[in-house]
Amino acid sequence: MMADPPTQPAPPFLAPRVVDDPAACTFNHTIDLPGHGTVPGTWDLRAGLDAYLGGVAVAGKRVLDFGATSGFLGFAMEAQGAEVVAYDFSGEACWEMVPYPDFERAVIAPEIRNHLHRFENAYWYAHAALGSRARRAGGSLYGVPEAVGPVDIAVLGNALTRLRDPFRALHGVLRLTRETVVVTEMLPKSLHLLRFLPRRVGLPVFLLPRSDQRIRFDAWWTIAPTTMQELLAILGFGESAVTYHRQSLLGQKRLCYTVVARRTEPTNPEL
Ligand SMILES: C[S@@+](CC[C@H](N)C(=O)[O-])C[C@H]1O[C@@H](n2cnc3c(N)ncnc32)[C@H](O)[C@@H]1O
Repeated sequence: MMADPPTQPAPPFLAPRVVDDPAACTFNHTIDLPGHGTVPGTWDLRAGLDAYLGGVAVAGKRVLDFGATSGFLGFAMEAQGAEVVAYDFSGEACWEMVPYPDFERAVIAPEIRNHLHRFENAYWYAHAALGSRARRAGGSLYGVPEAVGPVDIAVLGNALTRLRDPFRALHGVLRLTRETVVVTEMLPKSLHLLRFLPRRVGLPVFLLPRSDQRIRFDAWWTIAPTTMQELLAILGFGESAVTYHRQSLLGQKRLCYTVVARRTEPTNPEL
């Protein structure tokens, strides 16, 4: 008797891809893979994982890894006993670049899509090596589809400030989040002092792109930790705490903050 063909997952969930060639992959994070050893990536969060996740216990929880790229955080949470959905841009949805006057969409958009495809390849390569049961869904980081949720915990690692409208993306994710949200962001050196900024001074957001530099793959914003806490409180996550840690990016230690916030009010169903 012939075996039934595997059923395709319904969108936005993605069907696993068979990826055998590491040269077709881009690993955003260093990851240890059975049968392949340590595969290097841009970030190495292995030593600082607990701090990066704000010390939140994920065992037995349904978790959304928002902005998953090649999946390290989700796989690490799965190893701790979480049921994980990894989510990132895919298909037609793409990063929003800073539209400088000399921005060449026709050149840059295919480059980004290729990059996203390589992250997805790395995800499936690691998924197979780890024997993972995590699911991957894709679309735009704005408005994660309802079919993905609900989740107990949403983890948003270094993704929000890369988006032109972080509040819109946050709103979309938190509608699906029942208990806890973890937001981790890097603080650029020039803004390390933000960790000492008293709330009474204000709740700043800093613009990063500069017309005289025109860095193509820049983040858009630095959001002060206190401002992030307020954005989360506005969306019903009124109890929060901030911690600081250093993580390895291309071998250099970078200061990051993590806000862990708990839901204190239900989502407004009208919005
Ligand atoms: C650095 S990765 C974050 C990976 C992982 N969540 C972590 O915490 O290390 C950045 C995320 O932002 C998204 N993104 C959106 N616009 C981007 C841009 N202009 N440059 C880089 N990433 C961008 C990526 O698809 C990815 O989901």
